[in-house]
Amino acid sequence: MHIPERYLVTSALPYANGPLHVGHLAGAYLPADVYVRFLRLMGKDVLFVCGSDEHGAAITLKARKEGISPREIVDKYHSQFAETFEKIGMSFDIYHRTSSELHHRTSADFFKTLYEKGELTERESEQYYDSEAGQFLADRYIKGECPKCSFDEAYGDQCENCGATLSPTDLINPVSTLTDSTPVLKKTRHWYLPLDKYEDWLRAYISEGELDGKEHHDPSLWKNHVLGQCKSWIDGGLEPRAMTRDLDWGVGVPAEIPGSEGKKLYVWLDAPIGYISATRQWAINRAKNEPEADPEDWKKYWMDEKSCLIHFIGKDNIVFHCLIFPAILKRHGGYLLPHNVPANQFMNLEGRKISTSRNWAVWMKDYLERWDGMEDSLRYYCVKNMPEQRDSEFTWKGFQQSHNNELVNNLANFVNRVIVLTNKYYDGVVPDFDENTLLEGNDELGMPSYHEVEIMDLFDRLDSLCESLRSCELRNALKKFMELSAYGNQFLQNHQPWKLQKEDPETVKVIMNVGLQVVCALSIAMHPFMPFGSAKIRKMLNLSPLREEGDFLTALDQLSEGELLLKSGHQIGKAEHLFTRIPDEKIERELELLQNTGEEKQEKKEQDRPKLKENIDFDSFVKLDLRTGTIVAAEKIPKTDKLLKLEVDLGFEKRTIVSGIAELHEPKKIVGQKVTVVANLAPKKLRGVESRGMILMAEDDNGRLEFVAPPKDFENGFAVG
Ligand code: 2FM
Ligand code: ZN
Repeated sequence: MHIPERYLVTSALPYANGPLHVGHLAGAYLPADVYVRFLRLMGKDVLFVCGSDEHGAAITLKARKEGISPREIVDKYHSQFAETFEKIGMSFDIYHRTSSELHHRTSADFFKTLYEKGELTERESEQYYDSEAGQFLADRYIKGECPKCSFDEAYGDQCENCGATLSPTDLINPVSTLTDSTPVLKKTRHWYLPLDKYEDWLRAYISEGELDGKEHHDPSLWKNHVLGQCKSWIDGGLEPRAMTRDLDWGVGVPAEIPGSEGKKLYVWLDAPIGYISATRQWAINRAKNEPEADPEDWKKYWMDEKSCLIHFIGKDNIVFHCLIFPAILKRHGGYLLPHNVPANQFMNLEGRKISTSRNWAVWMKDYLERWDGMEDSLRYYCVKNMPEQRDSEFTWKGFQQSHNNELVNNLANFVNRVIVLTNKYYDGVVPDFDENTLLEGNDELGMPSYHEVEIMDLFDRLDSLCESLRSCELRNALKKFMELSAYGNQFLQNHQPWKLQKEDPETVKVIMNVGLQVVCALSIAMHPFMPFGSAKIRKMLNLSPLREEGDFLTALDQLSEGELLLKSGHQIGKAEHLFTRIPDEKIERELELLQNTGEEKQEKKEQDRPKLKENIDFDSFVKLDLRTGTIVAAEKIPKTDKLLKLEVDLGFEKRTIVSGIAELHEPKKIVGQKVTVVANLAPKKLRGVESRGMILMAEDDNGRLEFVAPPKDFENGFAVG
């Protein structure tokens, strides 16, 4: 395994069809930014690219709904995203967009190469066509009844009720969302990527980290949930995937390819190529400004074996980045494949899934307006609660507590005390001290001095923090950062320089010097997580902001040599507020706003609630056999987002029941849950599992699904009716 000479880091290109929220930030953007800033601080050559994903049916659908053009939609969101990312401190080297001419050219050429190499198979199939609108319908443009759960608003690609992956022809009574007319099947031709043929090498790539029989990356560094999802896709059997669509918005299939008319690239083909076109644009821009730079420099990042490609994404993008994009890159040839895809899971908000359509979110734009100057606090809380291995939770109270208790009481307090005391005792000059000012217990001959021991300890702490960052364990790294600050506070508390100054000023010099070194170390270690606060501390220390050119590495080297980060005699600046307390009112206001958006929608939602169904006669009702039961085992069904396989104890027997609640209920947490079961529902196979019955759930206006449960002391098998 080579040690990479350079890194190319990407964050998922967000769809330019709706605003960004904290879930996006914590999922694919912040982790990448922390990691990239760290790499730069370690002196690595790293390029960080992102941009807006401006194609796909979701964008045209939104444009249609709003009665404007797709161009207007993507322009609006692209500039909004660029501004949001800049304000929250995302340090992209370029923020590009897929509607650019360069991207169209890059992805069309990519397609052409695949086509010319014979990597794509052309196939005819029947697809739904809206005769009134005169166009083929993307999967999302068709709604109908789900064949699995009878939900009548299922999309052509997925039923959002039971989670089943569907194809449009599975829908019962399909309707075009464009005209409400019934679509007709019509023949069309498309180009497919035969993923089924790549199963063997994809398996080796994912499971062994092997490519072309050689070691490519270390799979033990990949997250378990990422590997798990990939393996379950491969085990489920890969199928050829269409790489083109009948659409009028997107990258056109090159005109020289026969049959290209009206065909556009599938958005999941063109979007990841957006990483390549962004890198190209970066090289072009740089070559314009720097005489020694070459517009072809992008190739080093994508083609040189000594480079390392890392994609930061959310869990819904795993299969595209770990299987489909690698397959596309490999079949094209000449490109590196991802070395790691540290995908995050999802962040929920106040106990519910974040939802754009239900307006249940902390919108980045709102946050940046209402919490101006507090970008770091959000970054801190989102790293602290990053959904690295499992879904996590954003709560406004949690945000307030972590800000007040950790950033204010711990970090800001420590920094402030050191800066204020240094100004008070030494007019802001870093004190020199006598190495032989030994403190109790450390006065044996040949032993390092007290100060030296503290510096070694500081080195160890920073080194261990770096180790966590290197392996992308950001929550852990942040914890170590806060522990260092807490240690600083404790150190002052133990020695109480404010009491000692009169009687033993020489010892106080040692203490204050150590304190200053710790503050300086914090300003460096803080930078990846909270770059704005880092710059503030540097200003208080009268140091220039970090340049992200190996500054952390230099500091580690200095400390390991026993050299100090802040030299004696250095004049520091004055104390400034680093963080100030968040009052309860501010949090209550946010909670109100969140509930109000709920309320505003309340009226609308009440109208939207399911209409009362037609009357049924008593005999039909008594045919239902409802029973009390208890969930005794629960597991996710592979390759679905929503389905859980449950074992339910009905007293007289145990049943397997498939339920579409996986997104809202963790399997572990519902074992032991009392439930009401429709016990005489005819068995049905869902994803190869025979489901025998149905669990009764109630859904509120925000999509929260809760069990309709009998009292805890009821036994299993009691009749309900
Ligand atoms: O899920 C999304 O928001 C997609 N637009 C991510 C694309 S990532 C990349 F492939 F471009
Ligand atoms: Zn369904």
